[in-house]
Amino acid sequence: MTSGSCNLKIPRHIAIIMDGNGRWAKKRMLPRAAGHKKGVDALREIVKACNEIGVKHLTVYAFSTENWARPKEEVTALMNLFMEAINNEIKKLHKNDVRIRFLGRIDGFSKNLKEKMVEAMELTKNNKRGNLNVMVNYGGRAEIIDAIKKIIDDKVPSDNIDETIFSSYLYTAGIPDPDLLIRTADEMRISNYLLWQIAYSEIYITKTLWPDFDKKELIKAIEEYSQRERKFGKTSEQIT
Ligand code: FPP
Repeated sequence: MTSGSCNLKIPRHIAIIMDGNGRWAKKRMLPRAAGHKKGVDALREIVKACNEIGVKHLTVYAFSTENWARPKEEVTALMNLFMEAINNEIKKLHKNDVRIRFLGRIDGFSKNLKEKMVEAMELTKNNKRGNLNVMVNYGGRAEIIDAIKKIIDDKVPSDNIDETIFSSYLYTAGIPDPDLLIRTADEMRISNYLLWQIAYSEIYITKTLWPDFDKKELIKAIEEYSQRERKFGKTSEQIT
């Protein structure tokens, strides 16, 4: 698909590590929670942009299995923000034909929050235009362990296990692997995110803090992605 004056290759799936909310707040002498709140605004804009550009899947890292170790007041603020964001955004997402999935160990959340997440997933499950996957209480290693447990519980014969079968036991079953992984706030780490799924993703890291990441920044990332040659382990000659 093309867009604007230059030829853009639109990724089918973009995954994002939304980093830098705390630094954004600190620079303004605001509490960290203010950075997260602004982060929800940025996410709203990026979901809308993905819908406009034609990116089918957007997967964001909202809360890791390690984030429980943050100060109690920040964890509480994040839980309240998730609840508030679902309440405020879900109707609009549904109207825009976006399917939302909360993926991770969602049993770890309060009963109210878990119910709210399940309700949002139920409401939007038949939507087709776009997919927003929100990784919560998520860790790539935890996901792999959970998949192995399910495979054992299902008594899958070891001879039947291949990459396709294994993928179908991950939280992201049925969702194509990300083509592009974006990390904001200039950190050169994967941070336990989608360890299996990003095997061949192109990585784009920007200095921009997540609350400042907007449609223009997204297009910049897609422009750089469009210049990359994806080889999937082959030589340049084999893929042209
Ligand atoms: C990382 O920035 C960001 C998070 C841990 C939270 C991200 C969550 C949101 C933007 C809310 C999304 C909400 C919904 C409902 C999808 P950081 O705090 O690690 O920043 P720092 O590295 O600058 O301290």
